[in-house]
Amino acid sequence: MVSFLSCATQTHSLKPRAIITSALPYANGEIHLGHVASTYLPADVTTRFLKMNGVEAYYVCASDDFGTPILIQAEKEKKTPQEYVAHWNKRDYDDFTAFDICFDFFYRTSSPENIQFVRYVFEKLKQNGHIYETEIIQFYCKNDQKFLPDRYVVGVCPYCKAVDQYSDLCEKCGRVPEEIENPKCAICGQPPTKEKTTHYFFRLKNFGDQLTKWLEENEHLQKDVKKYVQNWISSGLIDWDITRDITWGVPIPGDESKVFYGWFDNHLAYISTVMKFLGDKGIDGREFWNSADIYHFIGKDIVYHHYLFLPAMRLGINQEYKLPDYIPTRGHLTLQSKKISKSRNWYIGLRDFLSHYPADYLRYYLVSINPYSQDDLNFDWDDFATRINSELIANVGNLVNRALGFTKKTFGTIPEPDDLDEKDKDAEMKIKTLLSEMTPLMEQNHLDRALKKVMEFSIYFNQYFQHKEPWKKGPGTNSCVYLSVNAVHAIALALSPFLPQSAQKIWVQLGMPGKTTDHPWSAISEIAIQPGHVLGEIAPIFVRVEDADIKARKEELGTK
Ligand code: 2FM
Ligand code: ZN
Repeated sequence: MVSFLSCATQTHSLKPRAIITSALPYANGEIHLGHVASTYLPADVTTRFLKMNGVEAYYVCASDDFGTPILIQAEKEKKTPQEYVAHWNKRDYDDFTAFDICFDFFYRTSSPENIQFVRYVFEKLKQNGHIYETEIIQFYCKNDQKFLPDRYVVGVCPYCKAVDQYSDLCEKCGRVPEEIENPKCAICGQPPTKEKTTHYFFRLKNFGDQLTKWLEENEHLQKDVKKYVQNWISSGLIDWDITRDITWGVPIPGDESKVFYGWFDNHLAYISTVMKFLGDKGIDGREFWNSADIYHFIGKDIVYHHYLFLPAMRLGINQEYKLPDYIPTRGHLTLQSKKISKSRNWYIGLRDFLSHYPADYLRYYLVSINPYSQDDLNFDWDDFATRINSELIANVGNLVNRALGFTKKTFGTIPEPDDLDEKDKDAEMKIKTLLSEMTPLMEQNHLDRALKKVMEFSIYFNQYFQHKEPWKKGPGTNSCVYLSVNAVHAIALALSPFLPQSAQKIWVQLGMPGKTTDHPWSAISEIAIQPGHVLGEIAPIFVRVEDADIKARKEELGTK
């Protein structure tokens, strides 16, 4: 177990190893706020938290390179699919990095390692009797002269009757239609014909009982998500067509003219990417995987794939790689209360946002409004400005500046505290209990609630400082500044997974060596700054978000 933790009750449920993934972004467009809110940011905050707890944690991701939408787009732009995905792989990685999403490794589903692994898994599933071949009737467009899998066909969802849905996923009800109604070719809009073709199927039906057992036994999965997955299972699973008559994908062994469906190969890249990364470090990847806590962070639109296909495929290869322990699932971001839509230009690109505001402002806002649930969350420009100005700046920024600025100016170094009175003892207790208040929330993925604890802590210390009136230099002044500076120390560490850059700025102003991330999470509740300590240079950490600026941002939205 993790050894340095002083309080045994804090992190008893953490294993010493963890692998964290978040839904692999399709290599066909820029990362926007919707993507980062539901998966990448919560996964990044969690990884940083785990690392500070001494867990050997690796956050890996990859671009999702295969599939019909990408091929369609590459064709439209007159690029080879390879060129097309290479562009987005780099662009996405750069944008994530600018947002301080700190992957240990970012790879691609089209890597040779993944291609080899996917083919291996297929052979193994076949040997185990989970694959069969059958002739099917497939949509075909005579005009475009091609088979029309997945997104090449749009129509009406047979379950919920939503119009304009892709044939491989209804975005309204989240189900995978057995056959879309009123089909149209997505390229030319004409109704397709039907032709015969031979496809492989994965016997998802074989796994109903094992999946039910896994859902029942895994106590970390969200209850509400489990419930509707259990309903899907009891209403009957259908076998899964894993072949596509296109040229862009992992070639099928024995029938190289066809490829695997993108959802057959993409989640296998979670494993193959980890194997590549750990293998290059000389670590036995499979042993690591099977002894680690496995987290797959996703948005609610891909529950079906992560709670059924993914575990069934791992079960089908005898759990050579174990099933996930956590699948943190969050709702979708709406923008000014309207559904995000790239085609209608109703979205905010991550790169664009970061050209106006610091990464930490967005990180703060998106964590604060994002509960651990499937409820949708809303980005609102005014709310963003209000929260940054009145919470982050007026609360945390104010305390840091006041406590450190006053101490530095008045004392030069941290003074020896006086005897603690009741108020001081209460304040000291607040520092000592912040750790135990936050840790279970972080472990249980309630990141918004954990962040709120830091904000409440900061409000408390602002009031404490105000009440003590140290500027009057009366009795108790020394204790007040001593405890307030230590409260700032606690805040810097507690904010580190959420707002890495701001936490580091506070750390430097505290005159602390190294990085916040070099220090254990448990140090949050230590009274670490002792008399005689010299503070760094003090300056405001944050800059206000101005109304005029927000007005300009609103005007830009939807007009790009
Ligand atoms: O829905 C998506 O955006 C997919 N690209 C997610 C893939 S996650 C996977 F690899 F499991
Ligand atoms: Zn057509």
